[in-house]
Amino acid sequence: MGKLKVGMIGGGGDGNFFGHVHERAIALDNSRELVAGALRTDPEAAMAAAGAYDVTGYPSYQALLQAVQSGEQALDYVTIVTPNHAHYAPAKAFLEAGIPVLCEKPMTMTVAEAEDLKQIVDTGKVPFVLAHTYTGHPMMMFAKELVRQGRIGAVRKVEAWYNQGWLATPLEEEGLQQAEWRTDPSRAGISNCGGDIGTHAFVAATWVSGHAVTKVSARLNSFVEGRQLDDDFNVIGELDNGGTAIITATQIAIGYKNDNGFRLYGTKGSLEWHQERAESLLVRTGEVDETYWIGANFSFFPETIASYQRVPAGHHEDFFEALANLHGSMERLIRQGRGEDAPDAFDHPGVDEGVAGMRFVKAAVDSSNRGGAWTDL
Ligand SMILES: NC(=O)c1ccc[n+]([C@@H]2O[C@H](COP(=O)([O-])OP(=O)(O)OC[C@H]3O[C@@H](n4cnc5c(N)ncnc54)[C@H](O)[C@@H]3O)[C@@H](O)[C@H]2O)c1
Repeated sequence: MGKLKVGMIGGGGDGNFFGHVHERAIALDNSRELVAGALRTDPEAAMAAAGAYDVTGYPSYQALLQAVQSGEQALDYVTIVTPNHAHYAPAKAFLEAGIPVLCEKPMTMTVAEAEDLKQIVDTGKVPFVLAHTYTGHPMMMFAKELVRQGRIGAVRKVEAWYNQGWLATPLEEEGLQQAEWRTDPSRAGISNCGGDIGTHAFVAATWVSGHAVTKVSARLNSFVEGRQLDDDFNVIGELDNGGTAIITATQIAIGYKNDNGFRLYGTKGSLEWHQERAESLLVRTGEVDETYWIGANFSFFPETIASYQRVPAGHHEDFFEALANLHGSMERLIRQGRGEDAPDAFDHPGVDEGVAGMRFVKAAVDSSNRGGAWTDL
């Protein structure tokens, strides 16, 4: 079995964040290789970025697709690592061409776009994976498995959170690329914090519990002066079994780096997981149970040591493995589809989670705009 050939859209340039994480995740298992890319908006910069990755460059995703369709470029799937506004068009084009897509979150800018992708995926039966990285952590998969096995009984309540502090000041005004587009409605969508990290918390709450959120009451804040979109996102929701979901995300929690996690309370026990100590999952069934762990904080390192960091503090090395596992699920789907011998892919977020996520963000924004009124998804 040869290596799968992967194309990347976005993710190029020295200042980019997540393209480099995908590059490593693709390579991690030695069964996939990044071979081509349309890595930046500007055609010349896109070609230069391809040189830096040592892959075949294309000036645009359209040119990459055309090369694949003409047989000039061999490709098994693409991964889309552009800002939010540039997910939908390439995802649609490649899916319609029957080429599998591993797409960054939030899936699209609008509910209508998300529903369109769902329709294409469902009709064409093209593999599609939504990059909610944390669902690639084995312990998060295990949490889902334990709930499915009935270990904590019926889920009564779920709390999922994602606290960061990096946008507590107007970093976008200092020209930080990641802050600029996330706070710009034309590139981020109707929500900054909710779309960017609230969707991770939403997927944690729903994917692990196995329950959908049916309606929400929300309060969104924009604490940093001049910012058009939310930097703080608070939602109470009703689960489809009548249970309660508390889903919060914030970017103004000073000192918090990547504090993402969840607690589930069931009729027989509780589960607790923290992304910053992803190696452990706490199962409580009434016994006293405590864990002490020193989290990653790299700020005390001199540059000689800090330069060995690959991802910001709070993102562990197994973050790469989690994302690699989503690429691994995509690989299994593709290989099985071809009749090759490959293990079953574990459940992974896909178009359904993408549509639900977009509906969730829309309902939360609408609810917040109406003083927290209950709003159906
Ligand atoms: N799954 C996760 O855990 C996770 C973590 C971080 C970021 N993300 C997602 O990854 C995506 C990128 O985020 P980032 O922080 O890496 O942003 P970034 O600004 O660091 O990188 C964006 C890249 O896309 C390129 N780009 C922009 N528009 C393009 C276009 N139209 N065509 C081709 N390339 C284009 C830019 O040149 C840049 O290389 C976002 O959707 C974000 O939500 C996901």
